[in-house]
Amino acid sequence: MAIGSICLAPLRGVTGLRFRQAFQAHHTGLDLAVAPFIATVQGDRVKPEILRGIDPSVQPEGLPLIPQVIGKDPRQLRVMLHAMMELGYRQVDLNAGCPWPFVAKKGRGSGLLRDESVLASMLETGCEVLGEGNFSIKVRLGLEDNKLLPKRLPLIQQFPLRELCVHPRTAKQMYEGTVDLDAFEAVANQCTLPLTYNGDIRTLEDYQRLAARFPKVSRWMLGRGIVANPFLAESIRAGKDTRDMTRFMAWHADLLARYAEGAPGDHALLGHLKELWSYLAPTFVHGDKIWDSLKISRTREEFERILQLMPLRWKD
Ligand SMILES: Cc1cc2nc3c(=O)[nH]c(=O)nc-3n(C[C@H](O)[C@H](O)[C@H](O)COP(=O)(O)O)c2cc1C
Repeated sequence: MAIGSICLAPLRGVTGLRFRQAFQAHHTGLDLAVAPFIATVQGDRVKPEILRGIDPSVQPEGLPLIPQVIGKDPRQLRVMLHAMMELGYRQVDLNAGCPWPFVAKKGRGSGLLRDESVLASMLETGCEVLGEGNFSIKVRLGLEDNKLLPKRLPLIQQFPLRELCVHPRTAKQMYEGTVDLDAFEAVANQCTLPLTYNGDIRTLEDYQRLAARFPKVSRWMLGRGIVANPFLAESIRAGKDTRDMTRFMAWHADLLARYAEGAPGDHALLGHLKELWSYLAPTFVHGDKIWDSLKISRTREEFERILQLMPLRWKD
């Protein structure tokens, strides 16, 4: 079975610049990445610091990046797209999936699916500014239930989008409960755009099962699964588990150093490390114990000492 293209999911606060840099220095298997969302702004100018995470001069080689925008105002979208194009980007993604109530209630993220005319004007603006085949959208099945996306699909596919990326959960589910594969299948059957699947691919077997069921999917987006196991994309390509503790430790040390470089002190550094280890710890034998110790550590030294003392062994 041919392996489709594999994409790193945008996880704000997790798969940012430093994560992508360390990933590319130690791992393989990703074809591209979507950057965590950047919110549209009022006015005609986008401050450069807002775009720092997507500055092309510091992006890792070999991992093409697609910036993502969140917003609901077509005029503001236009300003942001022009700022991104000035940096050299030709392709941009629209976030229509963010489930947080304070975002969705204001009609942004997954809330964009609610209002057909706002959604249409955002898609129209994106396609007009970027040109055919360069704007894309990442969506959920709906807000309260799984019926909204199928209803919006005819509208979405009127636009010449690069792709439709579907995370088959409702906004109400947040990131919990199970992905609704039957609802995804119904969308896939109707979909005329290039289709990306995203959600709960944690193992090689998850990928293989989904790839067998959904031959129409051309791209697979990995999020929490590849944060928890940075060998995941490589293992999917190899068709076997390629995890290696020496390489893992080298990657981890590199990522820690990159986080430390950007953090004003231990407190900020530990924020990054604890977020990372909330994904990594459950993959290890006695992961609960490891996590219980790490999460109460207060200094970098303490954090590193705990890791040195814990025998790290992956669960099968
Ligand atoms: C902490 C966190 C931050 C996220 N940030 C974004 C984001 O900036 N843009 C976006 O489209 N999705 C975001 N997502 C959703 C993920 O891209 C992805 O759709 C979701 O995690 C499901 O895929 P997974 O099971 O492979 O992780 C975020 C998810 C998490 C857990």
